[in-house]
Amino acid sequence: MTAADYLPSTPRPSLQELSTAAHGCQGCDLYKHATQTVFGEGATRAEVMLVGEQPGDREDLEGEPFVGPAGRLLDQALERAGIDRDRAYVTNAVKHFKWEARGKRRIHRPPNKYEIGACKPWLQAELLAVEPKLVIAMGGTAARALLERDVKIMTERGQVVRNGHRPPVAITVHPSSILRSRDDEERRVAMEAFVEDLRHALSEAGRDTGNTDD
Ligand code: URA
Ligand code: SF4
Repeated sequence: MTAADYLPSTPRPSLQELSTAAHGCQGCDLYKHATQTVFGEGATRAEVMLVGEQPGDREDLEGEPFVGPAGRLLDQALERAGIDRDRAYVTNAVKHFKWEARGKRRIHRPPNKYEIGACKPWLQAELLAVEPKLVIAMGGTAARALLERDVKIMTERGQVVRNGHRPPVAITVHPSSILRSRDDEERRVAMEAFVEDLRHALSEAGRDTGNTDD
């Protein structure tokens, strides 16, 4: 089983149809311990698509991507880079929260390659439905899912990978890595570099996307 067994059979399903179908997905075991599917969200014809790893604790409970601590940081970075989140599309490589109990807390566990592969049909369908001009892969899981190869984030970040007819994929860090900074200065520098990656990706993609009043 993979997500492919749950995709709508219509040739070009809309985001709404995809999201509805994804809520019944049992394409891998992750649905068993999660509250709900957290599908992507945003503008139907977004020019920029941002891809994270998988929903976290808050996202799992609320049913929306990037609404917890990593999401707040992402919002700040997007604003500084001039990307309007309402006009972008935000999603994850894997749509269910994978966790392990530690006392009363649910600790995030990274998805493995089988889970990433099983969930990829949703990400591919989102790409086809949104047709973004630029995809931003945040962290290793997203970059591996999108580029279908191993990616070393710390050496490849800042690059914008063009691959034939597909939209360019910009590689950057996951916002959670900034949350793990040891002190304020490290966090400031990490945030600066993240914002710089976003700005560079936009200019490479040749788009003036974001907070322009049109
Ligand atoms: N981390 C992610 O990768 N995605 C979310 O939606 C939240 C945290
Ligand atoms: Fe389906 Fe993806 Fe959830 Fe696995 S993680 S059950 S493939 S939506």
